[in-house]
Amino acid sequence: MGEDLIDQLYAQHLETVAARAERALAACRYDALVVHAGAAPTLFLDDQHQPFKVNPHFKAWVPIVDNPHSVLVYVPGRRLKVLFFQPADYWHKPASLPTAAWTRLVDVLPMPDPKQAAAHWQGLGRIAFIGPNAACGDAPAEAVNPPDLLDRLHFDRAVKTAYELECLRRASALGALGHRAALAAFRRGASEFEAHMQYLLACRQREEELPYNNIVAYNEHAAVLHYQRLERRPPDACRSFLIDAGAEYRGYAADITRTHAGTPGRFAELIEALDAVQRALCDEVTPGRDFRDIHLSAHRRIGDLLQRCGVTRLDGAAALERGITGVFFPHGIGHLLGLQVHDVGGIQGDAQGGQRPRPAGHPYLRLTRMLEPGVVVTIEPGIYFIDSLLAAARADERGAEIDWRAVEELRPFGGIRIEDNVVATTGAPENLTRDAWRLTAASKAA
Ligand code: GLY
Ligand code: MN
Ligand code: MN
Repeated sequence: MGEDLIDQLYAQHLETVAARAERALAACRYDALVVHAGAAPTLFLDDQHQPFKVNPHFKAWVPIVDNPHSVLVYVPGRRLKVLFFQPADYWHKPASLPTAAWTRLVDVLPMPDPKQAAAHWQGLGRIAFIGPNAACGDAPAEAVNPPDLLDRLHFDRAVKTAYELECLRRASALGALGHRAALAAFRRGASEFEAHMQYLLACRQREEELPYNNIVAYNEHAAVLHYQRLERRPPDACRSFLIDAGAEYRGYAADITRTHAGTPGRFAELIEALDAVQRALCDEVTPGRDFRDIHLSAHRRIGDLLQRCGVTRLDGAAALERGITGVFFPHGIGHLLGLQVHDVGGIQGDAQGGQRPRPAGHPYLRLTRMLEPGVVVTIEPGIYFIDSLLAAARADERGAEIDWRAVEELRPFGGIRIEDNVVATTGAPENLTRDAWRLTAASKAA
């Protein structure tokens, strides 16, 4: 049997991560890097822990996402050392020593006690530590998470390796399975809670393994951007279904949103129209493009669409200028995606900590960088009917440019968001989400 593609790609990935680290360490005058996986914090006045979320810098090197207290030691030019936490613990099941193909490229050493870690960096010179402060307790404070080093690593991380792209493809495939199952639950009249549970079952992930809390929203709930409550009972009428739900593969995140109408009609047509806008915006994910321009393009396109659909009276450019598009689309068009759902480095202008400002009046945009091949972003336009924003617009001069009868007709549907994960390439953009959707359809048919 041949090796899995992902194992073949990992070797090159490890080289790239090491080369980036070596460059950053040299520029910041460090001799070695120590990366702590972190540990799950305990709850206040309790002996229970919060779910463990590994330090993203740790999982950038090795696909270990579930073993707190582990530590990486990297000295440029040497093999990576993984100090793999394996306590004698009869309360819990310690993690098994990994044996997958990637372990052939690194030294994985069992570590029964975290106190044993420090011996591995004695005498290595000037060391930078990356991890939660509590995990780096004995390290000199100035050597823990040095900002100049982090800036360099975060900036480089936006460009994905071939291995990372494959991980992201597989995360998208898992997410697509979950989305299909949740949609089927919605269609048969299940509650938000049950749609969410069907999602988890289909992508075979526990809630704590997901990259973010699923947003599973029916009807007016779809107007709450990060709706977090899951109604246990189905509503009397299932008019609309917005689901923003991802999945992880080897620590890499998918971030996918779809909106479905319960019945044909004006809202269903609005979904179709926004879908066309979304696909046009995905086509704008090209090298050399300033992501701020894609965000502003989204506002203009959504403004035109709202006018065409009879919700507003101005064209997109005028509606953007007058602050009307922001009433219906009050978040950024997208963000970097990778080891974290909102990956770091989105507003960096360079590796030295320079920043690229957000456009005036757009404080929620998380990505202002120029795109280049290998950068992965989300494209997630939305149209929402949010009471507080509508009331504010109605009370000022924007109110005259909005058709309030149309708003009242659409308000019970909450809103629409359509979100794909897209790779900038030297050719056509790669749409991880739509590809995954097609592949899961094909595998269902097979
Ligand atoms: N799921 C969070 C987001 O779309 O950014
Ligand atoms: Mn997103
Ligand atoms: Mn999302």
